[in-house]
Order: sequence, then structure tokens, then C-alpha cells
Amino acid sequence: RTALRTLAERVLDLNWTGDHTVPSRSLYPHQWSWDSAFVAIGLAHAAPDRAWRELESLFRAQWADGRVPHIVFNPAVPEGDYFPGPAFWDGPTTGLVQPPVHAVAVREIFRRTADRERLAWFYPRLCAQQAYLTTRRDAAGDGLVSIVHPWESGLDNSPSWDEALARLPADPELLRVHRRRDIRVAAPAHRPTDADYARYLAIAGAYRDRGYHDDDLAGRHGFVMECPSFNALRAAADIALAEIAEELGLPAAHHRERARAIVSAMVEHLFDPRTGMFHARAVPSGERAAARCVNGLVPLVLPGLPEEIAASLVEAATSPRFGLGGALPVTSYDRTAADFDPVRYWRGPIWINMNWLLHRGLLGHNHPAPAALLRDRMLDLVGTGGCYEYYHPVTGAGLGAAEFSWTAALTLDLLE
Ligand code: DGY
Repeated sequence: RTALRTLAERVLDLNWTGDHTVPSRSLYPHQWSWDSAFVAIGLAHAAPDRAWRELESLFRAQWADGRVPHIVFNPAVPEGDYFPGPAFWDGPTTGLVQPPVHAVAVREIFRRTADRERLAWFYPRLCAQQAYLTTRRDAAGDGLVSIVHPWESGLDNSPSWDEALARLPADPELLRVHRRRDIRVAAPAHRPTDADYARYLAIAGAYRDRGYHDDDLAGRHGFVMECPSFNALRAAADIALAEIAEELGLPAAHHRERARAIVSAMVEHLFDPRTGMFHARAVPSGERAAARCVNGLVPLVLPGLPEEIAASLVEAATSPRFGLGGALPVTSYDRTAADFDPVRYWRGPIWINMNWLLHRGLLGHNHPAPAALLRDRMLDLVGTGGCYEYYHPVTGAGLGAAEFSWTAALTLDLLE
């Protein structure tokens, strides 16, 4: 375990640029929003001042409307080192968002530093981030946030988006104009397909061409989905904000109230009693994605989830579909599905951030034994294979980028 701590700290040192941590030197050379939140949770143990700086650099790029961009481009990195870069997005950041894990991260850093001044700097910014999601992104008007791009979920090519994407044309011409860089630095079989990428570019381009406006998303935008893990993390952010507000001597009840409202909207609209888990839902059709994906288990992180729903998530996670309690951590997609793909990104492989969230959820709902086992499985995987981006669900071999920051950071947190 000491060797593992040293390894994880070395990865975070290697990827530190002076004011933020890149997810990976090869594949992701800029600053990613939710990556930075996970990284800060690990840095809170190893280098707390760097943890604060990590999130400060991200929030300095927050937009006037409150959105925290999904990528903040480093102007020192050549345009050719990442695609789609600033030229595509028409600005120094993207206009998309990612799951708001930041309030939880800020609370964790504060617990270890007691730095009230920095906490007070973040609080209004974190509230503005939530306000943007609440007021501009409730496309269905049902209290849930909609994402406007698969990249916003963080689970880019998850089967959760298959039906929605299949309705959109995949224009191969886009990939002739823009060349993908990811498949030159990572194995193409481990990445989204060209058809996925053509759609990603079309959706992002359409949102950009409307100036990143969120008016009438349901009527005008081609991809509008309610993601269960995005919404769960947003409710978790409100619970963290309530604790932060209390720490600062400010009113906190409205945060807890909103977290409760999100949980009931999720249970009403995204939970499927037939599968016993949550599913993504399309706006405006209201159709739930059929696929059983790990984002449908993540709501277990919510302490306010009704106990019978938490129990059904634990049961689904423990079934052969996801394998909790088996030899390896939980997969990103149903192992028994016909199109389960052990190497392709979010369509099968094991991801540490999802398992870290499930670990917290198991502890929160009083399942200490499976939580301890899951923690050991994660640490074994990283200890054997190194800090990879994701892992093969049968062999445990590392896949995607090596020396991947959030795997290292969450390993440090698990070692505490
Ligand atoms: C990528 O480049 O694959 C990222 O996931 C986009 O956010």
C-alpha cells in the first residue's frame, strides 16, 4: 500500500502543470472539469494547497451565466495536441458542462485544511454553477437537468445514449474536415467509433452555432437527455453546499430542500422498477433508455434515497450484470448485454471514479462489508495494473491512457 501511494502521487506530480492537473499528458492535455474535482479530492490528502489551486484555476474560467466549462484550454498547448480544441469551440473553453462534483471536492479539501477564506471564495461560485443548471438546463421543466451532449455526462459513448444518437445523422464528411487525434494516441478499438464522433461534432457544432444558448432546448436541440448520474451528483452537490453554508454561518435549508426535490424527481422519472435501477431519459419524448449502465447505479451516493430503492440498486450492482462482490470492480455496462464490449471506453470497461462513487454509496447506505471488498478490489486493480484510465472487465488489464490522474487521485483517497 505504501508503494501504491507513492505511485499515485507520482502520477499526480507528473500531470501537474503549475496551476492544474491534466487528466493525461498524451490524451487530454488541457483541464477537464469533473476530472479536476476528482483530482482535488485526492490532492486534498497529498498536497492540499494544490487541491485548492486545481479548482481555483477551473472556477476562474467560469462563465458569467454560472456554467463551469467542461474543458479549459491551456493556451500553451499547440492546437494540434487535442481535437476538438479552441478553434472548434470558438473560445478559450468549451461551452459544455460536466457533472458538478466540485462542491463535494471543496467540502473534502476544507475538511483537511479548515481554510475558511478559500471556502468563502468558492461558495457563491458553486451556487452560481448550480443556479445555471437549475434555471437554464431544466429542459423538460420537471426539476431535472438535461445534458445537451454525451460529453456532458462524462460517459461519452455509454449505451445510455444509443437510441438518441441513432436518430441523428452521422456525417462522415465532418471527420474528413476535422481529423480525430484521440485514435492516433490510443487504440481505436478502445475509443468511441467514427460514427459516434461524427455525431459528437455535429451536436457540439449545433450548440456552438447557436451561441451556447439554452433557450428552448427541447424544441431546437438534437440531443437533450436526463442522465441519472449527472442529476445524482447535482443533488450530492446541494448536500455539500448545505454543509458549506452552515460552516460559513449562512442559510442552508434551501440546499437541502433542492436535494430532496431532485431525488424525488429522479425517482419519479428515471427509476424503472422493472430493472431496479435508474435509466437516462430523452427530452421531450420522455422515453427511457433501455440499456442498464453504471450511471443508473450512481444515485446510490444519495443519502436521501428511499431505502427500498437503495436496496434495489445494491441488488442490481451485485447481480451478474455488474458483478459487485466478484473478483473485479463494477463494469460500466451490463456484462450480460449482447453488445457488451470489454475494451470500448464506457461500453464495458471498469472505471475507478464510478466505483469510488459506488463505494461511498455503499458506506452511506450501511453496507460496510461490500464497500470494504469493493475498495480492496479497486486497490488491487490499480496496484497490479497501474493508474490506467479504465480496465478490462475480464483480465483487469489497463486500457486507454496510462498515468491517468483521477485513478491516481481516488486511489489516494481510498488509501486514507
Ligand atoms: C474526449 O476527448 O474524449 C473527452 O471525453 C471529451 O470530453
